Amino acid sequence: MLISHPTQGLHGTIELPGDKSISHRAVILGSLADGESVIHHLLEGEDVLKTVGAFRAMGVDARRDESGAWRIRGVGLDGLSEPLDVLDMGNSGTAMRLLAGLLAGQPFFSVLTGDESLRGRPMGRVALPLARMGARILGRDANRFAPLAIQGSDLTGIDYISPVASAQVKTAVLFAGLTASGRTTVTEPALSRDHTERMLTAFGVPVERQGLSVAVTGHSRLKGLEMTVPGDVSSAAFPMVAALLAPGSEVTLKGVGVNPTRTGLLELLLAMGADITVSNPRDAGGEPVADLVVRHSRLKGIEVPPEVVPRAIDEFPVFALAAACAEGETVVTGAEELRVKESDRIRAIALGLGAQGARIEELADGMRVTGRPEGLEGGGVAEAFGDHRVAMTLMVAGMAARAPVRVTGKANIETSFPGFASLMNGLGGRIGQDEQGERR
Ligand code: S3P
Repeated sequence: MLISHPTQGLHGTIELPGDKSISHRAVILGSLADGESVIHHLLEGEDVLKTVGAFRAMGVDARRDESGAWRIRGVGLDGLSEPLDVLDMGNSGTAMRLLAGLLAGQPFFSVLTGDESLRGRPMGRVALPLARMGARILGRDANRFAPLAIQGSDLTGIDYISPVASAQVKTAVLFAGLTASGRTTVTEPALSRDHTERMLTAFGVPVERQGLSVAVTGHSRLKGLEMTVPGDVSSAAFPMVAALLAPGSEVTLKGVGVNPTRTGLLELLLAMGADITVSNPRDAGGEPVADLVVRHSRLKGIEVPPEVVPRAIDEFPVFALAAACAEGETVVTGAEELRVKESDRIRAIALGLGAQGARIEELADGMRVTGRPEGLEGGGVAEAFGDHRVAMTLMVAGMAARAPVRVTGKANIETSFPGFASLMNGLGGRIGQDEQGERR
């Protein structure tokens, strides 16, 4: 059982582990490129290591050198070999959906599976458009759930209008488009994170964007590159909210990715009155990066504009905590996607923070939070539901509450944020294992 104790002000300067979305894409595109790619600051979380494992199983030489950089010897678009066994993507929806797109057009058979959470997440959203391209994919429950069995086939480019603003769907279709004949276009209802588009461009693939549509042409070759992965803004969200809530805090987060398709949380916190300074903007491999200075602030509730939701989609667990400690009411709508993440995050957060004294009402597509500016009581035991972002949110809640917060169930923090507890403790947090709690 994990425990997080109340803390006073947080202080210090930290660097976050590499961005998870960008790291998956760097491994995938590096494997498909001609020549070697050298990736610095790759996230070595379990999710990304699953992607590395899958490409190794398909004949790619990917290894960490003495300097900590990852060297990936690309085999070219048509150089992968048939894996001898099932590919286990663990907890990672990104790994499974992106690989489904890529493997659909490879001349071999493959099977993708994952843990219980991943096997319960919707895969029809990628299987359907891929089938329209000519893919042969079978899965449980009329091809809606993993395990997915993929018999690679010749694909034809399509013009796909996606019903969801999902970077995983967009990327799966575009990756299939790399091996398809002709042009593949994806149009989204709102712009989701655009790391795929940026990274394809960096690898030398022509990408055409027009409004909410993006297109690639099949069989464009990729050229190996050297890049540095920015710090993960979704991981930065935890020390950021912790520093806002703990009185007297001032924390500097260095080298954080500030791609505008990912900075929704920053926009929302600023609108709530947060004292966050963005400085030293620079570029890393086609991605904007900056340093953030976060100081304790009194926050005010807001109505979240639905158009910000895709830009903040992974941050709603910890955003809900900020709202729960703000003055007044905060309403989130248009966020039904939260129900199909690593857990049903609306339910998990309402239950978990509710057990610490937060007032959160579930809505079908979001939540209504009535803030308690005096802070949360804490003292509760909450279930993580195997969801790393729920577990980390509860740990931050403990830092800002009046009594410790305990988390049961598999926390899975290593999937996205290895070293989370030691990084937070280095700033003044007190997160650890609760052996007494386990014996109780
Ligand atoms: C991701 C896209 C998002 C996000 C996930 C990572 C990606 O999922 O929630 O953590 O790397 O493409 P959806 O595409 O399902 O919105």
